[in-house]
Amino acid sequence: MTAMLELRGVTRVYGTGENAVRAVDGVDLRILRGEFVALLGPSGCGKTTLLLMAGLLDAPTRGEVWIAGRRAEGGDKARDFRRNTIGFVFQKPNLIPFLTAEENVCLGMRINDVSRAQARVRSLELLDYLGVAARAGNYPSQLSGGEQQRIAIARALANRPALILADEPTAALDSARGRRVFEQFKRVASELGTAIICVTHDHRSLDLVDRVLEMSDGQLIPASAPVRP
Ligand SMILES: Nc1ncnc2c1ncn2[C@@H]1O[C@H](COP(=O)(O)OP(=O)(O)OP(=O)(O)O)[C@@H](O)[C@H]1O
Ligand SMILES: [Mg+2]
Repeated sequence: MTAMLELRGVTRVYGTGENAVRAVDGVDLRILRGEFVALLGPSGCGKTTLLLMAGLLDAPTRGEVWIAGRRAEGGDKARDFRRNTIGFVFQKPNLIPFLTAEENVCLGMRINDVSRAQARVRSLELLDYLGVAARAGNYPSQLSGGEQQRIAIARALANRPALILADEPTAALDSARGRRVFEQFKRVASELGTAIICVTHDHRSLDLVDRVLEMSDGQLIPASAPVRP
């Protein structure tokens, strides 16, 4: 089965000489279509660095990143490829304050040359899918933190990505709202086939993921086998 994400010997060293920090150290990883994976580990162990490389936002010092069966390249090509293939969700929803929920979701599609009418239809579909259709016309300041994060997930899904990378998306939410975000991811992975990596410190929602990865000092600790083959 094709891996949606494959890392081969991925290493990232920040700085040089005495100041060099080996933030990610020879990571091999395969994430399959529809797999929802949690990434845990102490502060500074390299989780965000790993996600940035998986998301083609940073290039490894060594090693290869493969996404949906294609070796990732640098430069402009990476930017277009990233836009079409990868969705990001961060700790803060980072919605644009002067755009409504629906317009926030539309924005990424408009950049991708989707027509205004089509983007609107898709945006409303996604907001409905995430249970926030009633909020489509509201501005971010009129939404709860959990609602804003669901809009951010809708935005991440807009271009039908093969892969979603989420960096502590529930850190600013209470546990019930955080769990809802995990439930949404689980549903997205199983219904849409999206591969999802979610960095989290929240152990209470781990029953919802297919696999837990643990990182320490830039390396993945061999741990739990995938629940699904
Ligand atoms: N741009 C950078 N330049 C230099 N060092 C960096 C840079 N970004 C991260 N580091 C270092 O790389 C290591 C891994 O950082 P990273 O942000 O990936 O950790 P993390 O696991 O995401 O931590 P947290 O849970 O606190 O978010 C840390 O030692 C950090 O100080
Ligand atoms: Mg981090």
